[in-house]
Amino acid sequence: MTHTYKRTLVTTALPYANGPVHLGHLAGVYLPADIYVRFKRLCGHDVIHIGGSDEHGVPITITADKEGISPQDVVDRYHTMNADAFAKCGISFDYYGRTSSPTHHATAREFFSEIEKKGIFIRKTEKQFFDPKAGRFLSDRYITGTCPACNAPGANGDQCEQCGTHLSPTELIDPKSKLSDATPELRETLHWYFPLGRFQKQLENYVERHTGDWRSNVVNYSRTWLNQGLADRAITRDLAWGISLPLDAEEAKGKVLYVWFDAVLGYISFTKEWAEKQGDSERWRRYWQDPETRIINFIGKDNVVFHTLMFPAILMAWNEERLDGRYELADNVPASEFMNFEGRKFSKSRNYAVYLGEFLERFPADTLRYSIAMNYPENKDSDFSWSDFQNRTNGELADTLGNFIKRSIDFTNARFGGEVPAEIDLEAWDALGIDWLESFSKLEAAYDGFHFREAASQAMEIARFANRFLTESEPWKVIKVDAEAAGRTMAISLNLCYTLALLFWPIVPETANRIWRMLGFEGRIDDLVEPGKPVWRRALEPGLKRGHKLLGSSEILFTKIEEEDIEPELKKIEALLAEAERREAAEQPAPMTFKPEITFDDFQKIDLRVAKVIACEPVKKANKLLKLQLQVGSEQRQVLSGIAQHFTPEEMVGKSVVLVANLADRTMRGELSQGMILAVEGADGRLFLLEPQGEGICGNQVS
Ligand code: 2FM
Ligand code: ZN
Repeated sequence: MTHTYKRTLVTTALPYANGPVHLGHLAGVYLPADIYVRFKRLCGHDVIHIGGSDEHGVPITITADKEGISPQDVVDRYHTMNADAFAKCGISFDYYGRTSSPTHHATAREFFSEIEKKGIFIRKTEKQFFDPKAGRFLSDRYITGTCPACNAPGANGDQCEQCGTHLSPTELIDPKSKLSDATPELRETLHWYFPLGRFQKQLENYVERHTGDWRSNVVNYSRTWLNQGLADRAITRDLAWGISLPLDAEEAKGKVLYVWFDAVLGYISFTKEWAEKQGDSERWRRYWQDPETRIINFIGKDNVVFHTLMFPAILMAWNEERLDGRYELADNVPASEFMNFEGRKFSKSRNYAVYLGEFLERFPADTLRYSIAMNYPENKDSDFSWSDFQNRTNGELADTLGNFIKRSIDFTNARFGGEVPAEIDLEAWDALGIDWLESFSKLEAAYDGFHFREAASQAMEIARFANRFLTESEPWKVIKVDAEAAGRTMAISLNLCYTLALLFWPIVPETANRIWRMLGFEGRIDDLVEPGKPVWRRALEPGLKRGHKLLGSSEILFTKIEEEDIEPELKKIEALLAEAERREAAEQPAPMTFKPEITFDDFQKIDLRVAKVIACEPVKKANKLLKLQLQVGSEQRQVLSGIAQHFTPEEMVGKSVVLVANLADRTMRGELSQGMILAVEGADGRLFLLEPQGEGICGNQVS
């Protein structure tokens, strides 16, 4: 694909505003997008990065119910929290919106109306669970019950977390509403369906066109769906939280747009809001409605089909029979695999996660950005561990990049009056022993092709080269005999600092800005970049002239991470892992084991009788035993039973129990026991007596 575009629109999946974003989110979507966008900006390209919070849908209302607050409170809290964490991490959104905004509501409703007007939606009446106590229809996630596949209790209406089976709520055994615990009833309700199948051919062509330039996971997920034949998808829900339908009819009351129908349109709404803020409310059209704009959606692998099939189909429906105001489809949808954490999947619901905001309270953003870039889950799941983070920070950032920069600047300040001591011409630069063009092309291709692990390694490779150059040139020795040669070494080193600042800016922007300042530049690299001004290529040649003045002081770029810094983190993980294991064990139904088989005749040997407790008292010095007097038909028996911690003597009198009547007599604590009564242990060690109910059963056989 050799198309050259005039501009680029980058979008990142909108995280649900129902919890703090964690490092898994950062690794899969936001950091890669930010690195890409920064690289493009550095190249002088016109690029904007649009993101924001997904504030609708069942995930939000479930959190609200759980925390006992309103959905509005939930989204207010987490939108702010996540926007702050991203800002602290240097994720340079041009706009970070919210799907609760009036512009977004209007956009989503406009899309619905347009597609409705064209008669594309299909209306279907279906039966759905309704909670009679709460007076609400229940979405799948609001229903729980026993899994029909593995018998685990607490399965959700859409999936059993225990065995992973996808379910529909009507398959659950003994379904219950999570809202009220009521047994839900099936009631009829009307929904709007989007006929994805109508766009099957167009979508096949779309995916086909990009086979080769899209990642194979993206093509494969999309093809799997296409091969099965695209079905109608309901795009409305009976829910109190969301965007109401733009219809007055009675039948549309109480219904909202399905969250995935509205969320993807958020990208468009937020671009409109961004344009408004730029003072040119029509400017968003350039990014969505001009074939010369390249649209790129960064997402995680769990969001693929919503972006390669559903969203494009919505845009196709909009575009149908239209000559102007047509939307362009994404040119690429780089979906990441998952980044695990210490060998396990991040899980918000299980609280197995490291949250971005919390992390940044302890460690600087750039150390995280670099480590995560080196662990970018591009083609397969990757793993983030504290020891990897520590090693990369200490060995690569501090000992290589940081050490080189500081030595270059300090030595120049100390011995050359803080000025670049020599002029480095291109010839000398090219003779350094590094093939600049090749290194650059590799780095460019890595940034441009979304290979961010490779980009970070390639940039660090150049830092290693620089560090080696300085060490091997030994200017601190050479200066004693040949000050000019030492000056040349320092001029080269300082120019390498300049180059590294630019090369590293997309990955570790704050560090790059600090290097920039130490090199004596005012302002930040961030302020230097603008469309039409390619700064990137400047890194290819020596950028500092002889006599250029440095700031005159230096700072330590990276503080090493000591064992005691990560020890509490390792402890936390241990606790999290133990908790996860405990939960898993508790959720795993214990395998049933039974005593060895007996014959019917064996069973017949046991004489079980219904007996009535007529008197009961404690046994002295035996705090577990009760002494029971039982009426068994016409006979009386005395039985000692170890139930004193579960029942009082008063409670026992009058109860019907089951007695093993032909058990050999025993003496306990000097008292005779003529049989045994039956009980069963329940949850938390509670004891339940077998209490047969019925008229005229006392003394009768239990069989
Ligand atoms: O999976 C999620 O977290 C969704 N909120 C992603 C939405 S992406 C886009 F459609 F906005
Ligand atoms: Zn199951």
